[in-house]
Amino acid sequence: MMALWNSRFKKQLAESALKFSSSIDIDGKLFNEDIDGSIAHVKMLSKQKIISKTDEKKIINALDEIRKEIINGKLKLDWKKEDIHSAIEERLVEKIGETGKRLHTARSRNDQIALDERLYMRKEILDLVKVVLSLQKVLLKLAEEHKSTVIPGYTHLQRAQPILFAHHLLAYIEMFQRDKERLNDLLKRVNKSPLGAAAFAGTSINIDRNFSAKLLKMDGIVENSIDAVSDRDTLIEFISACSIIMMHLSRLSEELILWSSQEFSFASFDDEYATGSSLMPQKKNPDFAELIRGKTGRVYGSLIGLLTIMKALPLAYNRDMQEDKFHLFNAVETTKDCLKIMSELLTHTNFNKNRFDEELVGDLSLATDLVDYLVKKEVPFRKAHHIVGKIISKCVEENIKLHHLSLKDYKKIHPKFENDIYNLFNPRTSINNKKSAGSTSPKEIEKQIKNWKKVL
Ligand code: ARG
Repeated sequence: MMALWNSRFKKQLAESALKFSSSIDIDGKLFNEDIDGSIAHVKMLSKQKIISKTDEKKIINALDEIRKEIINGKLKLDWKKEDIHSAIEERLVEKIGETGKRLHTARSRNDQIALDERLYMRKEILDLVKVVLSLQKVLLKLAEEHKSTVIPGYTHLQRAQPILFAHHLLAYIEMFQRDKERLNDLLKRVNKSPLGAAAFAGTSINIDRNFSAKLLKMDGIVENSIDAVSDRDTLIEFISACSIIMMHLSRLSEELILWSSQEFSFASFDDEYATGSSLMPQKKNPDFAELIRGKTGRVYGSLIGLLTIMKALPLAYNRDMQEDKFHLFNAVETTKDCLKIMSELLTHTNFNKNRFDEELVGDLSLATDLVDYLVKKEVPFRKAHHIVGKIISKCVEENIKLHHLSLKDYKKIHPKFENDIYNLFNPRTSINNKKSAGSTSPKEIEKQIKNWKKVL
């Protein structure tokens, strides 16, 4: 079969050149979007009396059949077809002859691919939002189970202050909420139709761009026809939203990896979600968290990949842009897979509720509570910080915990210390004493859980 554009050439494209430039193994995935777009286009052409009602029906019936042929494998999408648009149009002409040749009236593959991509993104954005929501629900359930589990909180990966594990999990729910917001916001810009921009300059044929946009349930058209075929911002934004999701997943993965180490001994994965070592029989490895962390590289790679493709392209369409789909699909599929496996992994992880109960009694991470104690007794904060610093230094020197020092020791450092300081040396006291909004206190955590139950 000759290429769609072949008549001004004397020779056919070299086989190696066709193989190199064919994109169907990637854009074949867009056949549904491509056919949906073509059907809307044909309906518009008929409404505008550019083609007849009979031709409209014939084309639409044939396109529906082609859709089925692709689904059941009867129509092979092999590399000899330049791209999905050519493959479908060729098959259409094969099926209904001359009438099929009317489909491409007032249309170019440039606006066609731009439309297909937007339809694909619209579907995938909605799907991704659902998958993020499922993960949030898993996190919320875990948070409920762990609303009295105490863990050390960290800054700089140094023990900082005790917190409720639920508080930590709820922080991830917040991040994923923003991820959903970003996706939903993006939808406004994605859901606009470039169809009818033709090659880039528009067309002298009396089409109705808003009509086909409406048929496709899009919120209007991409106004400027040059912009409509040249722009890939929305793809870049989408991949960027995916990258941020992956960054969140990767941080969570990193924590799961740390928590599952013998040093932390806080998390353990079910056997179905961990692997062994071929050499060391004792090993139980956190491969799934590691793979999510690793696959983050793929998605960031695609973000930089597409930004790089676009950075020096003169207006309007350039063939370089064909490479965009590799990055779009790679980012979306990787992100979705990782979100799903993270949900599964978390539901198959056991967190040891009492792991830190004893370890945190009198722990130096309660130092801030001692500072606050003095502040409440009207010692200026900076001074209180200094005094408690001396206590910590003594504990470190003697390798003891806060409650191992006698009241006499405390009083020697500052007379305002009284016997009630010993109440502070329980991590739960520290947690219960928190008062500020959004803090780790059980009351605030309860409030957050209740709120998320309403929202999710
Ligand atoms: N396969 C092409 C792509 O994805 C379709 C558009 C081709 N346009 C062109 N003028 N060659 O970019």
